[in-house]
Amino acid sequence: MKLIFLLMITFFTGSVGFGQGNNYVQNYKKFDGLALTPPMGWNSWNRFACNVDEKLIKETADAMLSSGMKQAGYTYINIDDCWHGERDSLGFIHPDLKRFPSGMKALADYLHGKGLKLGLYSDAGSQTCGGRPGSRGYEFQDALTYASWGVDYLKYDWCNTEGLKAEGAYKTITAALRKAGRPMILSICEWGTDKPWVWGPAVGHLWRTSGDIFNCFDCVEDHGSWKSWGVMQILDKQDGLRKYAGPGHWNDPDMLEIGNGKLTAGEDRAHFAMWAMLAAPLIAGNDLRNMNQETREILTNKQIISINQDSLGIQGFRYSKLDGFEIWFKPLNKGKWAVSFLNRSARVKKIDFNWRSEDVKDEIFQKELSASILYKIKNAWTDKSMGTTKNSLKTEVPPHDVLTLILEE
Ligand code: GLA
Repeated sequence: MKLIFLLMITFFTGSVGFGQGNNYVQNYKKFDGLALTPPMGWNSWNRFACNVDEKLIKETADAMLSSGMKQAGYTYINIDDCWHGERDSLGFIHPDLKRFPSGMKALADYLHGKGLKLGLYSDAGSQTCGGRPGSRGYEFQDALTYASWGVDYLKYDWCNTEGLKAEGAYKTITAALRKAGRPMILSICEWGTDKPWVWGPAVGHLWRTSGDIFNCFDCVEDHGSWKSWGVMQILDKQDGLRKYAGPGHWNDPDMLEIGNGKLTAGEDRAHFAMWAMLAAPLIAGNDLRNMNQETREILTNKQIISINQDSLGIQGFRYSKLDGFEIWFKPLNKGKWAVSFLNRSARVKKIDFNWRSEDVKDEIFQKELSASILYKIKNAWTDKSMGTTKNSLKTEVPPHDVLTLILEE
């Protein structure tokens, strides 16, 4: 009897102990409920590259509020490469204390105090693209560190990843973030090499679909062993990918170059409108502290942002393409549609678009622009009415510019 009792105690304590100690079960799924519309924020890389420090980040946060960007919906302040210092003898990563003397926790507190969120950058490999310590082998430790600092968003890059497979490597960091327990957006930055749109939706909230953007409208920049891509080149790389995107999981055609001094106002408009049509993350990449009026008005345009942030989360599609002139459609909530007439050419393009004789169908998401419905037309850029779909649309679009409309019953 005594023996049976003892055996029972051993059995129960053993199984209880097993249950509680069952800590090694991993959850390789991203945090749900984040990024239900494309993330909006700012990232340091396009404008500042490795020149990041806490003064810049705090001033950018202040500018986010004073410029109206926060009110327009931008929330994340993302520090890209080069914030890192060294790992200590126990393997914990520290920020470069010359650049971030108050530490990351204090910076996160500063941003949170303003209703903003902090994003950081790391890399699945041994080193980041900028040669700073990567997270390979330190994933769980780094995730704990980021969580303890109050980080809300992690961009995770793909340099120096010899021998790693992308899906597995990104699942490891997702499991690490889950274990650390603080909900964070995971931005997969794998450049589209291993088709992240296929495995990415379960693992992260957005995935880069291509190599880096280059600050030009229509060019390719050859760096020798790699290339970066102009706004139009990146746009073309999105072909065939729209079916993979939706609330909580977005194609990421890279961060914005608007206001970085190389594009004309028309090109900046076209860049912004097309990223809105693509339901792309809107991550500004300019100096928010020194924005001119034109840039500010483009980045904070309410109607264009509403196209991007529409709750259906359907990525738009190219309806037609002829001679450098393209027409794009995006189905919106409540039967509305966004339409963009994009002029990629160097000549003025005339529009003569007969709504009644066009057959606009979104086969993938089962939406149709009905020829029997009379839609009211609004110019999304100016918020002014442009009549209805009863008559043909007759107007023109200047070279390297866009006209974006919203149709509503
Ligand atoms: C890669 C990424 C960029 C940027 C740099 C930083 O090139 O694709 O977006 O993060 O690394 O070094």
